[in-house]
Parts: sequence; C-alpha cells; structure tokens
Amino acid sequence: MEVIIRPTAEMAAELVARLVCGRLRSKPDLVLGLATGRTMERVYDRLVATQRSEGLDFSHCRTFNLDEYIGIPAEDDHSYRYYMNHHLFSRINIDVSNTHVPDGMAADLRAETARYERAIREAGGIDVQLLGIGEAGHIGFNEPLSALMSRTREKALTPITRQQNAAMFGGDPNKVPKRALTMGVGTILDSRELLLLATGSAKASILAKAVEGPITAMISASAMQLHSNCKVIVDEEAARDLKERDYYNWIFQNEPEWEEFQD
Ligand code: F6R
Repeated sequence: MEVIIRPTAEMAAELVARLVCGRLRSKPDLVLGLATGRTMERVYDRLVATQRSEGLDFSHCRTFNLDEYIGIPAEDDHSYRYYMNHHLFSRINIDVSNTHVPDGMAADLRAETARYERAIREAGGIDVQLLGIGEAGHIGFNEPLSALMSRTREKALTPITRQQNAAMFGGDPNKVPKRALTMGVGTILDSRELLLLATGSAKASILAKAVEGPITAMISASAMQLHSNCKVIVDEEAARDLKERDYYNWIFQNEPEWEEFQD
C-alpha cells in the first residue's frame, strides 16, 4: 500500500483523476470500478474537464459501480445510477450500455448479485477500482463484520452509514434505505488496482485505523492492506491521525513514479 498526502481535498482528487486518465490513455477499453458519494464528485468533475480540454476518450471504457440502494428506482435522484448519470456519464463520451450499476429494483436480488459478479468476470475483471471510505470503515457498503472474502450481495446498512448519507435524503437518516446491494470485499480485492480517496477531518480516525491498524472484518477498508497494488490518497485533514506521515511524504517526494506529480 502507498499513502499519498496532498495539501487540499482539491489536490487529492486531482491526483486520483490524473491516475485514472493515465490508465485510460494506456488502455482505452479500461474496466473502471466506480464509487459514488461526495468525495468522488471532485474526481468526476476533473475527468469531465480532462475529456473536454484534452479529448480524453471514454468510448471504449467499461464501468462497474460498487453499490446501489435497494428499492430506489434508477430515475430517482437518490439512486446511485442517477448520481453516476448526473455527475459523470451524461458529461463524457461513454457508451451508457458499457456502464453497470447493480439493479436495486430487481425482483430477484440474489440472481442480480450473481449476474453482476458474472458481468465483471466476463469483462475480464476490474482494472482500477475507485473507493471512498465510510465513517463506519466500509468500502462499498461492506459494513462492519463483512467477510473479507465476501462477494456481491445484499447488505443491511448501519445507523452510522445511514446518518452519514442522510444529507442526500433531506437530513433524515430514517429516509435512507435500510438495505443495499454491494460488491463484496473479495470482489473489490480481485481488482488489479485500488485507488482510495479520503478527504476531510471526519475521515481521519477511521482512515488511520484502516491503514495502520490490524486487518479486521470490523473495518472492511482494512482489507486493502492485503492488496499488492493499492494507493490511498488523502488530504491533510484526513491524514491527521496517521502515525507514519513523514515516511509517506518521503516516499512521495523520492519515488520516480511520483516525479511528474510534484508541485
Ligand atoms: C459509495 C460507496 C461508499 C462511499 C463512502 C464515502 O458508492 O461505495 O463506500 O465511498 O461511504 O462516502 P462520501 O464520499 O460521501 O463520504
């Protein structure tokens, strides 16, 4: 795992977007795993800006989202399908038939999760998976005690997660759906590269536990420590509780891989 600390949330998101753009340039039919949430909005704005300024081509790119609420139709502006169309897909030259979000309205949810796993496999697996981290330590909607080998499935959301997402539901956590479909921790770990972005002081404590604490099913983001190609990109606020900050900064300043990203 590598941890990169940028001074601001804007700069952290910019770095993530630049990494994604680089991966897409070297593999136009990239299979890109996507996350929703407030943290990712800056990344998607950057991808849109790069497509406009540099003609970045998404026409062969395939995408798979991490998760979707159960019982919210795609056209509803609370659904993650709506979020993705709004923040990214409608603003770039992607073929919407190449974009995949689990169907939280499927009559048979178990069949839907099996279908989703199959679709990822048939696409050749995920090249790069974007991740945010929840205040409960989740990646995707893998709430505490999610098995580290879990696959795409239905999951009940914790009160902490429903509180975290309440702002999108008029501030009322009771309006946040109780259940969601989510890629499993094992599904996420199968991706060839993980890029986790965390910004803001609300994430500082859980991020330090996930990165520098023990691997535990209580904090599904800690499973990133098992992955051999994982970058955690944070702003100063989210980095607050990390003990090895100096070491991470030294690596960023000295590794040739990061030379082009220096200020
Ligand atoms: C969303 C998702 C979640 C979020 C996490 C952070 O698709 O998978 O794990 O990434 O809850 O959300 P924000 O960015 O809103 O703090």
